[in-house]
Amino acid sequence: MTLSVRAQAEERMDAEDLPADVLAAVLADLAQVNTVTMAARPTLGFLKRAVGDRRSFRLLDVGFGDGDMLRRIARWAQRRGVAADLVGIDLNPNAAPAARAHTPPAFDIDYRTGDYAALADEPWDVVVSSLVAHHMSHAQLVDFVRFMDANARVGWFVNDLHRHGFAHWGFPILATVAGWHEIVRADGTLSIARSYRPAEWPPILAEAGVTGAVVQRVFPFRLCVAKIR
Ligand SMILES: C[S@@+](CC[C@H](N)C(=O)[O-])C[C@H]1O[C@@H](n2cnc3c(N)ncnc32)[C@H](O)[C@@H]1O
Repeated sequence: MTLSVRAQAEERMDAEDLPADVLAAVLADLAQVNTVTMAARPTLGFLKRAVGDRRSFRLLDVGFGDGDMLRRIARWAQRRGVAADLVGIDLNPNAAPAARAHTPPAFDIDYRTGDYAALADEPWDVVVSSLVAHHMSHAQLVDFVRFMDANARVGWFVNDLHRHGFAHWGFPILATVAGWHEIVRADGTLSIARSYRPAEWPPILAEAGVTGAVVQRVFPFRLCVAKIR
C-alpha cells in the first residue's frame, strides 16, 4: 500500500453492528497500545503548558474510547491538587459503558454518548482528542478544528498518528507479538495509513480560519496539533 495519499477505507471498529463486547475488547486493547506507545505523554505535556498555574479547569475529550486518556488526566490533576471537571463524548453508544467499567468511581468522569458538536453551548477550558482526527472526513475535520477554536477558552490539542512508513510496517508486528485483538491489528495499521503528515495540517488550519496553532511530531509516531491562547 502506498502512503503518499491518505487511505479512505473504513475501520472495522466504526461498524454500527459491532457487538458491544467486541468493541469493549478492542477499546481495552487500544488502551494498552496507548500505554506501550506512550500516547498520553504529549497530551499531558500540552495540559501542563495550557493549565499553567490555574487551580481548576474543565476539559472535554472527544472520542474517549476506553476512557484511558481521561483517567490519565484525572491522575495527573490529582497529583497536582488541581480540580479537574472531566467530560468525554463518544459517538459510539457502547463506548461509555466500556469506559465506565474501567474507571474507579473516585475519578468522577462524565462519559457521554453523542457527537461533540452538541456540546458547543457548554463552557470548556480545554478540548482534547486522541486517535480521532483520522476518523473524520476532510470537511468533518475542518468543522472539528473550528469547534475547538471557537469553544476552548484556554486551548485545544489534537493527538493523532503520523502517516509514516516505518510505523505502518512495524505496527502489525508489534500487535501480533503483543497478542492484541485482530481488529486492533487491522484497524491500527489502517489508521496509520488514514492519518496525516505534518505538511497536510497547515492547509486544514487555514481552511478552518485558525491561526497560532503548532503542528508537532512526537516520538515515536504521533502527530499533534496544539493551540494555547
Ligand atoms: C480510534 S477511537 C480512539 C479512542 C481513544 N481516544 C484512544 O485514543 O484510544 C476513535 C473514537 O472516536 C469516536 N468519534 C469519532 N467521531 C466522533 C465525533 N464526531 N464525536 C464523538 N466521538 C467521535 C469514535 O466513536 C471512536 O470511539
